[in-house]
Amino acid sequence: MSNKTNLVARYSASERINHWLVAITFVMLAFSGLALFHPAFFFLTNLFGGGSWTRILHPFIGVVMFVSFLGLIAKFIGQNHITKADLEWQKHLGDIMANKAKNLPEIGKYNIGQKYLFWSLVVIIPLLMLSGFIIWRPYFALYFPVDIIRVAVLVHAVAAFLAIMTIIVHVYAAIWTKGSIRAMTRGTVTTAWARHHHPAWYKEISRENKL
Ligand code: HEM
Repeated sequence: MSNKTNLVARYSASERINHWLVAITFVMLAFSGLALFHPAFFFLTNLFGGGSWTRILHPFIGVVMFVSFLGLIAKFIGQNHITKADLEWQKHLGDIMANKAKNLPEIGKYNIGQKYLFWSLVVIIPLLMLSGFIIWRPYFALYFPVDIIRVAVLVHAVAAFLAIMTIIVHVYAAIWTKGSIRAMTRGTVTTAWARHHHPAWYKEISRENKL
């Protein structure tokens, strides 16, 4: 619990550092990757010290993001299991978006949209790492036949596209749901936010902390 009475703790400092390390490296990877992908984005190499440096740095930043993302998985997997209540909640998405929903199952720490985001990334990020590893010259690519490298290049591009789209939705949802960003910056949310968006989670932490 936070020491201010109308705030509740949602993320520890280590969870926030872990999340922002993933977020910063992700943006760096998206920019450097796009710069290598198409000449229209080549100007982005200026951010990394030119073309050669962009090419050298991109895979190493990828390793940092992958390892940090494993940390996020370990920290958040416990609260991302999809339950029957989530599926019931999903059926009423139209009413929820229109703010007209009544008598819905109560949401825990994450709603089903957040859980889909989590599981999509759990598939996409390792795919990016694996395909990136196969095409990483001069270190690893020479151990793979050229046909495997060709498939890996395609998988890498498709997975990167999906990852960027997924994160655009994630950032949009974080901004759209007022009061969420502070969860990842200051670590706390208001009790009103917790009760409104994640009532089952609020009840759970209230019980634990005898609020
Ligand atoms: C780039 C800007 C980003 C912003 C502004 C942002 C913002 C946020 C916020 C506010 C939350 C807390 C949501 C809540 O507690 O209800 C969150 C959670 C989370 N973020 Fe981000 N994020 C960003 C990038 C990323 C990236 C790049 C990844 C992974 C590749 C990521 C993965 C996650 C995960 C896994 C959670 C926990 C939600 C869950 O487990 O279902 N975020 N983010």
